[in-house]
Amino acid sequence: MKFSLKFLVSVLVLCCVVGPSSAANMDELKKYKRPLTIPFDGVTPYSIQLATLGKMLFFDPRLSGAKNMSCASCHNPSFGYETPVDLVVGANNSTVDRHVPTLLNMAWVSPHFWDGRSKSLEEQAVGPITSPIEMNGNFKTIISEFRMIPDYVKWFNIVFPEDGVTQKNILTALATYERTIVSGWSPFDRWVDGNEHAISLGAKRGFELFTGKAGCSNCHTGWNFTDNSFHDTGLNTSDIGRAKYEPDNLKAMHAFKTPGLRNTIFRAPYMHNGSLPTLRRVITHYEVGGIKRTSRSRKMEHFSLTNGERNDLVSFIKTLTAEKQEASLPVLPN
Ligand code: HEC
Ligand code: HEC
Repeated sequence: MKFSLKFLVSVLVLCCVVGPSSAANMDELKKYKRPLTIPFDGVTPYSIQLATLGKMLFFDPRLSGAKNMSCASCHNPSFGYETPVDLVVGANNSTVDRHVPTLLNMAWVSPHFWDGRSKSLEEQAVGPITSPIEMNGNFKTIISEFRMIPDYVKWFNIVFPEDGVTQKNILTALATYERTIVSGWSPFDRWVDGNEHAISLGAKRGFELFTGKAGCSNCHTGWNFTDNSFHDTGLNTSDIGRAKYEPDNLKAMHAFKTPGLRNTIFRAPYMHNGSLPTLRRVITHYEVGGIKRTSRSRKMEHFSLTNGERNDLVSFIKTLTAEKQEASLPVLPN
């Protein structure tokens, strides 16, 4: 009798602490429900042909000066559309100064780049193609060469009957394809949808920490786990980040855009400089709170976790990983 009462009490406590059925928990969970449609707010309306053309361009190294590097060289689908090194080497054999960010769920992200210097995906794509330290391409050359490739001419004429292969059309197609790169359904999404067995008890405790004591959801909010704004998280860096565009804002110094956290386990190393190698290192960084300086976000509060709590938080982040993912390669026009 004594035993069963204790058992009953602990079941009740467990239900209140980690069970999705508590009202507060359900309200919190609703904020993370994934959208069912992609907002295609590009300059040209979405069509499957436009996205298919964009996908070919995304994987086509002929956009680069030496024809050896495509968008996918750095935004590799097998690594959550990132590269598994801190800083990549670009076309000129020189190191690119920031870590490659993921391209997952870009349709919901704005502005673009770690420092938010670009407002739209259409505007963004010109950067990597022409930058000498990234692809080192030249639009005049690209356009005249693509006009000699019969399959490309055919595709561009179908999608853009008025003007065919142009710089603007290349950028429009790339941006439209990028909006289709969406992280798949994950155990967490099934939990949000009411399946209580979709994630472990440890991961549920991790969610409580994420939205509670650890304060992660102060910045990593919503279904894509980002507030799309800029914060200095106290990392050791000489990069001024957002301050380049907001010189008068004290809080913009060393501030970078909050990345979404979907499929994070494929995306190590982490942060704008790739300085943290594992999720556990990311968590211990937040516990200490990084370097105290005027620019550091007020949301960076000191807290400490037990080893078990760190494991729970990692378990939770792992539940954001899509269960089924595949990226088929396009056959490129010739
Ligand atoms: C040499 C590696 C490299 C190549 C090739 C490359 N990128 Fe990037 N990409 C980066 C890096 C590094 C950043 C972050 C730069 C920054 O924030 O200052 C970035 C940022 C981005 C972003 C912004 C993401 C965000 O969170 O806002 C988008 C979108 C993007 N790239 C798309 C592309 C497209 C499209 C191509 C091909 C036309 C491409 N990239 C080619 C390295 C690369
Ligand atoms: C003050 C806002 C804020 C808080 C609080 C916060 N983050 Fe972040 N997070 C960011 C920003 C901004 C970055 C990028 C920082 C940089 O690179 O300089 C980031 C980066 C990350 C990354 C790396 C993602 C990638 O693609 O490289 C992970 C993982 C992460 N945070 C997890 C967490 C966890 C777990 C917590 C809670 C313990 C947390 N964050 C709390 C704003 C925040």
